[in-house]
Amino acid sequence: MADVTITPSSNGPLLVKGPVDLRDINGRPWPPQDSTMALCRCGGSGRKPFCDGTHLKIGFHAETKAPAT
Ligand code: FES
Repeated sequence: MADVTITPSSNGPLLVKGPVDLRDINGRPWPPQDSTMALCRCGGSGRKPFCDGTHLKIGFHAETKAPAT
């Protein structure tokens, strides 16, 4: 079983659970986050890479489902 799981929320952020080393574009680490962090996938957040709830205001829509096995 993976130590880290990444789950897209319905029409919202990617929920990352588990120990991750999140870096910025220059390789600098972000301060440690809560046990679950929400990463923006709508592109509208004012505090990227984290979700700030803007997806609700802009009507972001994305259903992400793995292929049936
Ligand atoms: S997914 Fe929430 S602000 Fe982008």
